[in-house]
Amino acid sequence: LDFEITLTERPATADERARVLADPGFGRHFTDHMITIRYSADRGWYDARLQPYGPIPMDPASHVFHYAQELFEGLKAYKQPDGSIVTFRPYMNAARMNRSARRMAMPQIPEELFVRAVELLVGTDKAWVPDTEGHSLYIRPNMFATTPTLGVNSPASDYLFTIIASPSGLYYPRGVKPVSVWLSQDYTRAAPGGTGEAKTGGNYAASFAGQAQAVEHGCDQVVWLDAVEHRWVEEVGSMNLMFVYGSGSNARLLTPALTGTLLAGITRDSMLRLAPGLGIPAEEGKINVDEWEAGCASGEITEVFGCGTAAIISPVGHVKGSDREWRIGDGEPGEVSMRLREELIGIQYGTRPDPYGWVHKI
Ligand code: PLP
Ligand code: COI
Repeated sequence: LDFEITLTERPATADERARVLADPGFGRHFTDHMITIRYSADRGWYDARLQPYGPIPMDPASHVFHYAQELFEGLKAYKQPDGSIVTFRPYMNAARMNRSARRMAMPQIPEELFVRAVELLVGTDKAWVPDTEGHSLYIRPNMFATTPTLGVNSPASDYLFTIIASPSGLYYPRGVKPVSVWLSQDYTRAAPGGTGEAKTGGNYAASFAGQAQAVEHGCDQVVWLDAVEHRWVEEVGSMNLMFVYGSGSNARLLTPALTGTLLAGITRDSMLRLAPGLGIPAEEGKINVDEWEAGCASGEITEVFGCGTAAIISPVGHVKGSDREWRIGDGEPGEVSMRLREELIGIQYGTRPDPYGWVHKI
């Protein structure tokens, strides 16, 4: 499949771009171009385009507006010391998008096509990749059902795949300052057999009420507990959770296992592989809220952090529930969290060796 390329006649000027890049925030500004690729059940993928960023005409009967057949991905492009640009493990995003697609009865996209489309957009809009350390270009692939039909007995037969890109600074304005989290009692994010493992918009739509409740209780983020017993820890906000036991040369890492209700984060996977290389054993397991509280009280659990592409690593310093509350650490990011963060960022920004072959040159 070849891309038809139409460059914008009105690209942002260097001044406009510089103004955005001085304080990009997260997901507020978009680059000059976007990718669109169409799919139909009889033709497969067709009509691949790189075109000016802009609105997409949609039929109000489009399946996605009514039945939410939608999924997305998130990855970043990073400027290297020599000025070149890389993305991080893009084939992992392609594979996860296809796993999400299977659950949502949506078409598989060839991984090569996904990665080629990312490369084309980032290569075209490379002037938008920030130079500032810690900043990057957030890349957002998306796929949604366009068939104009209200029938709900079968999935749509037509889809649009898009990629847009957004220069991004710190996801949380407070940086790596530890956040406070609320143990959600009233809401669950995902139930067994549901769509928790798929990166589909509905999971996020369902999360806003829980997040709002966390904010009402003075917390930054919501902790999602399992849907059945409501005590097994699953995720925090839109990040995977990591627990550090012990410290110094005795530190080890535990993260909730992928039970089908958690998103298989690429940062999570990277942590599980990086940590042992730094002498920190890492395992997947189960932890409930009682164990979390007791572990912090006894000093066995020394640090807790959320991890994901957008926020990288976000230490958790304070946990609140309807009838309990405790603190972790002294209000500063923990030593193990920061070591892991530095290592990951070093690989992504090309200031440390990449023994895993994770960075992908554009
Ligand atoms: N969990 C949820 C629910 C997410 O939305 C995300 C982010 O995309 C993650 C975890 C972290 O995944 P990743 O590390 O691939 O960004
Ligand atoms: C992440 O990249 O960690 C995210 O949670 C992305 C979010 C904007 C959905």
